[in-house]
Amino acid sequence: MKHFLSVKDVTDLNQLITSGISAKRDPFADNDLGKNKTIGLLFFNSSLRTRISTQKAAQNLGLHVITMNVGQDGWGLEMEEGVVMNGDKAEHVKEAAAVIGSYCDIIGIRSFAELQDREKDYAEIVFQQFKKYAEVPIINLESATRHPMQSLADCMTIEEFKIKERPKVVLSWLPHFKALPQAVANSFCEWMNPMDVELVITHPEGYDLDPQFVGKGQVIYDQDKALEGADFVYGKNWSSYQHYGQVLTSDPSWMITEAKMALTDNGKFMHCLPLRRNMKVADEVLDGPRSLVIEQAANREWSAQAALKEILLGLM
Ligand code: CP
Repeated sequence: MKHFLSVKDVTDLNQLITSGISAKRDPFADNDLGKNKTIGLLFFNSSLRTRISTQKAAQNLGLHVITMNVGQDGWGLEMEEGVVMNGDKAEHVKEAAAVIGSYCDIIGIRSFAELQDREKDYAEIVFQQFKKYAEVPIINLESATRHPMQSLADCMTIEEFKIKERPKVVLSWLPHFKALPQAVANSFCEWMNPMDVELVITHPEGYDLDPQFVGKGQVIYDQDKALEGADFVYGKNWSSYQHYGQVLTSDPSWMITEAKMALTDNGKFMHCLPLRRNMKVADEVLDGPRSLVIEQAANREWSAQAALKEILLGLM
């Protein structure tokens, strides 16, 4: 694998999931693979899970790790080509990416959507520019439109906990007063599409995701109907794609409660975290036996390890 930007970079998803599950059983089996190599982790936005799990996975593979909060500590980076840099951006990505690429064998980047201009966000300019100028593999640690490391961990978690050959997986929009990106929801759908699952997506009208991500997913606007018989409920808030970046409603009746989970087929609850308790999901669900959120977050280490291993094999 040359880069890890989306599921499109994965040649064999089942093999990648199996690799993650193997890494969990034997974390140091490939400890020599990253020897004398360095990964740079660049964060334009906050993180808890992605930062720590990716660092840990890299260390398990023997990689040296350099982490930088570029959004806080670095020079402001200009991404556009051919502009007069007379604003607040002190450095161009052409130099920055090339320089970081000269220090690091792999670069991981987190850069969220700004939710102002859909075309700009969906063009993923930060990742495209680093890919163009760094000349080393680029790993997506959550971009404007995708969060593949999370989605791989989600696939692993569903594989581990499914009790039916073809489980029903429901992605449910959750209420939130803030505008959040569509990246996790987009990516979850994109990764569920090649999986052997029945994918249902439920959200209020006006929150339809970009059709390129929905794929085989069936959209049902009635949350209760969508949850019927679900084996997994994946909760996530996102802002509107059509009315880009807007919060059209924060209707509390969309919060996941035990009463909602009772509609499922003894379903499990998943969320990528962080989440606001009793606004998106009730304590009774998160603290009860249905919740997989900790197991899911723990799998972030193993999804990162599986992806980094593929990248390192590609460097050999
Ligand atoms: N799920 C996830 O990406 O968590 P962080 O934002 O804390 O990294």
